[in-house]
Amino acid sequence: MDLRGKTLNASGFHTPERGTIDALDDVLIEIDADGAIAALHRHGDPNYRSIRDAREASGELVTLPAGSYILPGFVDLHVHAPQYPQLGDALDVPLEVWLQKYTFPLEARYRDIAFARHVYGLLVEDLIANGTTTALYFATIHQDATRVLVDICLEKGQRALIGKVAMDNADECPDYYRDRSAQEALDDTRALIDYVRGHPDNREARVLPVVTPRFIPSCTDATLEGLGEIARECGCHVQTHCSESDWAHGYVLARHGMTDTDSLDRFGLLGRKTVLAHANFLTAKDMETVQAREAAVAHCPLSNAYFANAVFPLRAALEKGLHVGLGTDISGGPSASMLENARGAILVSRMLQSGVDPALAPAARSGSGAAQIDFRDAFYIATSGGGLALDLPVGQFTPSYQFDAVLIDATAEKGTVRLFDDRDEGEGILQKIIYTASKPNIAATWIGGRKV
Ligand code: GUN
Ligand code: FE
Repeated sequence: MDLRGKTLNASGFHTPERGTIDALDDVLIEIDADGAIAALHRHGDPNYRSIRDAREASGELVTLPAGSYILPGFVDLHVHAPQYPQLGDALDVPLEVWLQKYTFPLEARYRDIAFARHVYGLLVEDLIANGTTTALYFATIHQDATRVLVDICLEKGQRALIGKVAMDNADECPDYYRDRSAQEALDDTRALIDYVRGHPDNREARVLPVVTPRFIPSCTDATLEGLGEIARECGCHVQTHCSESDWAHGYVLARHGMTDTDSLDRFGLLGRKTVLAHANFLTAKDMETVQAREAAVAHCPLSNAYFANAVFPLRAALEKGLHVGLGTDISGGPSASMLENARGAILVSRMLQSGVDPALAPAARSGSGAAQIDFRDAFYIATSGGGLALDLPVGQFTPSYQFDAVLIDATAEKGTVRLFDDRDEGEGILQKIIYTASKPNIAATWIGGRKV
C-alpha cells in the first residue's frame, strides 16, 4: 500500500552509523506526502501512545504483521544494465578478454531499442523484487537505449542514477562498439544529462544523470578531460572503474605513468559525487586522495572473485573513513541480489584475512592484517554506506530521509529464513536475515513511500 501521508507501525533494523545496528521495535514512522520520513517514534517515547491512537482513529495507521521486518532498501552502487542477459554466464576468462569476447558484442546489441526495452524492463523489475531501491547504472554508448532505461526507471518507480557510457579509444574498443570521437562521447553525455533533467516525469529528480567514462583504457585523454569539465559544469555524479585488476591497473600506470586515482583526479573526475567501482589496487596514497576528495568506492565482492585477481580491502577502507557502498557489478558478479553480495562481502573478507592456500603455513598464508567484516558492516555498505556514497538521503530510517524500504517476511514458507522463538532475538534476527534471506522473503518494496 502507498505509505505517503501515512504512519507505519513496524519493527525492523537500520544502521545509520557503521558498526551499530539500531533495532526498531514496534516503532511509528510518519511518512509525508512526498515520501520522506517526517518523524520516528519509539515505543517508550511519551507521545507514542497518543500518536498511535490518533493515527488509528483517522485511518492513517498502517500496521505490518508480526514476523516481518523493515530494512532500508538496498543501494546497488554498480550495475551494468545491458549485461543482464549474461548474468551467470561468461565467467571463464580474464577481464580484458571478457570485455572483447562477450561483453562488447552484447552491449553493441543495444542499438536495437526493442531489445533494450525488453532487457531493461526485466532487469528493473527483478532488481526491485530483490529489494534494490536505488541503483547506479552503466548503460551503453547508445543515446536512445539509455533513454529507454531512464524511461523504464521512471515508469517503474526505481530511484536510479544512469550514465551513457563514454568509450572512444580505438586502441581498446572495437570498431563495432565505440563512440566515433571524443566530441561524440561528450555531446552524447550532455544530451543524456539534458534528457534526464528535462524529463516531464522526473520533476522529483528520482532519476539522476551520471558522467560515465567506462574506465581509463576505454577513453582517450580528450574524452577524460571533456568529461571532467562536464562533471564540474553540471554538478553531476561520476562513475567509472578504478584499478580493478592487475591488467587494468597496469595499463593506466603504463599509459599515464600514474595510478587510476591520480589520473582521474587530474581530469577533475574525482569528487564528492564520484563512485569508483572496485578500486582493488588503491595504494595508500590513492586511499588518501579518494578520502580527501570524499569520493566513494563501490565494493563488488562477487565480481572481484572472477575478474579482479584480488579482493578490495574493505575493512581497512571503512576504518580509514572512506565512503564505501556495495555493488553487484551485474554481470561481472553472477548475482543480482544485494543480499547475496552482502554475504559475499563477508565471505571474501574472511578469506582475505586468513589467506587461502593450504600448502602454506598459517603465518605465511594469512593476508595483510585485519580484514574480516561481519553482518553489521555488510548491512551498512548495502544501505547507509551506499546512500552516503551517493550523497542522497537514502539508506536509513532517519527523519528527512526518503522512505525507501524492503519488507522481509521471515515467516514466508517458500523463503529461506527460519527463526526460532526460543533463541532468535534482537540483532541476531538481522544477522539471520542477512545470511539466509532470499527473494521469497521480500514481501514488499517501497521507494519514496510508494509501493513498487
Ligand atoms: N572494466 C571496464 N568495463 C568493465 C565492465 O563492464 N565490467 C567490469 N567488471 N569491469 C570493467
Ligand atoms: Fe563493472
